Amino acid sequence: MIGGFLSKQQYIWIDGKFIPLEKANVPILTHSLQYGSGIFEGIRAYASNKGTAVFRLKDHVERFLRSAKIYSMNLGYSAEELGDAVTALVRKNGLKSCYIRPYAFYNDDHIGLDVSGKKISVAIAAVDFGSYFGGKDKGINCIVSSWRRINSQILPVQAKASGNYLNSIIASYEAKLRGADEAILLDIRGYIAEGPGENIFLVRDNKLITPSESSDILLGITRDSIMKLAESRGIEVEERLVHREELYTADELFFCGTAAELTPITHVDSRAVNGGKVGPITKMFSKAYSDASTGYDNVFSSSWLTFV
Ligand SMILES: Cc1ncc(COP(=O)(O)O)c(C=O)c1O
Repeated sequence: MIGGFLSKQQYIWIDGKFIPLEKANVPILTHSLQYGSGIFEGIRAYASNKGTAVFRLKDHVERFLRSAKIYSMNLGYSAEELGDAVTALVRKNGLKSCYIRPYAFYNDDHIGLDVSGKKISVAIAAVDFGSYFGGKDKGINCIVSSWRRINSQILPVQAKASGNYLNSIIASYEAKLRGADEAILLDIRGYIAEGPGENIFLVRDNKLITPSESSDILLGITRDSIMKLAESRGIEVEERLVHREELYTADELFFCGTAAELTPITHVDSRAVNGGKVGPITKMFSKAYSDASTGYDNVFSSSWLTFV
């Protein structure tokens, strides 16, 4: 869904121009629509104590450019130009907080897999967007998916590429069919990887544990923020292989990601975590993340926020 009710005209930034949202359309045979041959980012802007601010804009734009590089897509814009386009769009759309979706795609309506020399467009949307799990701050119910997370011998997992998300979509859909809110995917070897669009943290003995890059996770910017917030609070973080059964014995579990922000997991495979209640360390990180993204963290907010 694109946002809620907005009275102000909304725009899309595409190839350097602002176009009214309802006029920003592509032909049905657009290559990236048929084959998933696009790359994208997901960014949030928050209503901070000093006005609207984009969270970790530079890191997101740099990841976008790395995704493009993996697929040899020449976007024709520098990190600075893309960052400026994001802030200009949020300003133009008059949004106090929003979700921002940069997207680069083959804007060419051909059939066939050869993309050499085909036209690439870069578009940015900034839309009104609330809580990803519909305000489930009391915690969500997860299952371990029967689908495995894609691995980097099959597809580059560090590229945020549209096609990768079919793996996420089928796992999320399985979770819904099984009556859960979200899936947890194992890596190809059977260790915990991540959610379909979220990284995962376990809390055990007041320590954070999270799967390492070797489990083919997307290296999330929110994950990195949680790790930095933990470090600044003297909380140890273990990045390592995580066995499935550790989900069942964890003191607390939570997902994190730009869309999901920090979402507590209170049930996994029908087992209660922390008696089915959100635990104290999850609550502490939830507040720490919210403070950092809205200007109230004295250590990080100034470097993580870009004001529009
Ligand atoms: C597969 C996957 N893992 C993890 C994340 C979390 O990453 P980030 O915190 O950078 O949004 C995302 C969201 O982008 C994702 O799509």
